[in-house]
Amino acid sequence: MLFLLLAGVFMLKNFYDHAILASMPDFTNNSIDIEQELIEESRKQKMLGCNDIQNIEIIRELGKGKAKVTYEVKLPSGEFALAKRCIHDNCLRKGLLTGEFRHLKTLQDQYGKENTIGVYGECDAPYAKGGIDLQKGTRTSKKRNSRHLRIVESDFSEGYTAFFEMGVPLLTKWRDGVKFRKCFASYFTDADVDSFRVIARQYAGYAGSPIMLGQPEYFTDNIWAEQYIIAKAGARHADLDMLYHCQNCTYEEALAHNCIIVQDVVFHKEMNCSLAFSLEHPILNLDEHINATEAERQCTLTVGESLPKPRPKPKQ
Ligand SMILES: Nc1ncnc2c1ncn2[C@@H]1O[C@H](COP(=O)(O)OP(=O)(O)OP(=O)(O)O)[C@@H](O)[C@H]1O
Ligand SMILES: [Mg+2]
Repeated sequence: MLFLLLAGVFMLKNFYDHAILASMPDFTNNSIDIEQELIEESRKQKMLGCNDIQNIEIIRELGKGKAKVTYEVKLPSGEFALAKRCIHDNCLRKGLLTGEFRHLKTLQDQYGKENTIGVYGECDAPYAKGGIDLQKGTRTSKKRNSRHLRIVESDFSEGYTAFFEMGVPLLTKWRDGVKFRKCFASYFTDADVDSFRVIARQYAGYAGSPIMLGQPEYFTDNIWAEQYIIAKAGARHADLDMLYHCQNCTYEEALAHNCIIVQDVVFHKEMNCSLAFSLEHPILNLDEHINATEAERQCTLTVGESLPKPRPKPKQ
């Protein structure tokens, strides 16, 4: 009797469960989609580390400077990004790339990803035994280190790699000649020019102490367009080797100095870099940028091929 009663209750409960389920709207597919999106989003937000290295695919080499090499890579999330590595002893010894990562990460945390070059992560894997020796400061040791860095330049499992957003470089090779550069700069849009004001301000307001785009009284590479890229946020500074932290200067002093430097890039001597100016002159089309390839082509046609001058070697 008790058995029959229990069996009856069980059947009734089953019936109700099914009835309730059947009468409920089907949220399952929707919630799976939302959950999937959230997982995808958090994967994108998470900083990459050494555990991800084996799942990062090199697509192609993008460019080589004196100190660093850059690759286009495919991240585990499917996104395309840029990987940077040191290829010269100087880069490692002076911590140029680790410094670049630290600065770009601070800028991102301070101003938000939508206003800076995206920073995706880093991996600081050890170099093979006997590969790198930073203790000896001799010429032979420097040469050996640089040689080893070049041997392992595309092997992300060895040494330091930083992952950033991949932007569009403004100039792909070093150009000599003011005429060429002036012609190129004439193709900057209002949004691009305003981005240079933003760069000047972001560095002046850098967390901790203001940053200048160059040490006063010293020459800086940051007057060259080659140091900048067009990122999602607009024109941004991508080669951070020549920055100067000024401990005793004010925001206004750093901004004034930075403004003089970016004026050289855009060939606009009177450019006002203040926030007040940008607010008073809002940019109507923020997504309109220079077509760097086309600008380079046009300037080659009108001003003539301006061959790159051999650049001085970094100090040994
Ligand atoms: N975020 C980025 N997106 C796209 N391209 C980039 C990015 N960062 C750097 N590059 C390209 O990679 C090249 C090398 O990078 P970087 O300028 O940092 O190296 P470098 O060795 O310091 O160069 P240089 O000797 O010219 O100072 C640059 O010329 C630039 O065009
Ligand atoms: Mg450099």
